[in-house]
Amino acid sequence: MPIITEPQQQALLQAARAAQRMAYAPYSKYPVGAAVLDEQGRFHAGCNVENAAYPEGLCAEAAALSAMVLAGGKWAQAVLVVGNGGKNHSAWTTPCGGCRQKLREFGDADLPILCANDQATGPSYTLAQLLPESFGPDHLGTA
Ligand code: THU
Repeated sequence: MPIITEPQQQALLQAARAAQRMAYAPYSKYPVGAAVLDEQGRFHAGCNVENAAYPEGLCAEAAALSAMVLAGGKWAQAVLVVGNGGKNHSAWTTPCGGCRQKLREFGDADLPILCANDQATGPSYTLAQLLPESFGPDHLGTA
């Protein structure tokens, strides 16, 4: 897994927690924040944004990637996701299946994906751990 520095990890955590506080999640009541560190060392955050047609909601990771692309970022060096999962906050929030694929577009197999909640940091995974044998731009020959 590529090394990200402690200050970078702290900045990701801060950005993702700040984003989580801005989440619009009146239906699930499950606010999520995400932050991406891009190839230029910049941070981009996003929160989930739900709507009355439940399946049409936007995930925090997708919003963070969109912010990265909008800012001219090309590649993700690390991602951190903050959610307060499960009873007693016992289940760490990992990216949903669709977001794993979205991250695949902008990250290497060893992209670090860090989990946290509003009180603590949790486990980290690589993208390949969360999305093994994945399909990506390289398969299309467009990478
Ligand atoms: N959600 C995210 O934004 N990211 C994740 O990693 C997991 C789930 C959102 C989608 C929905 O708004 C709420 O959390 C409950 O599923």
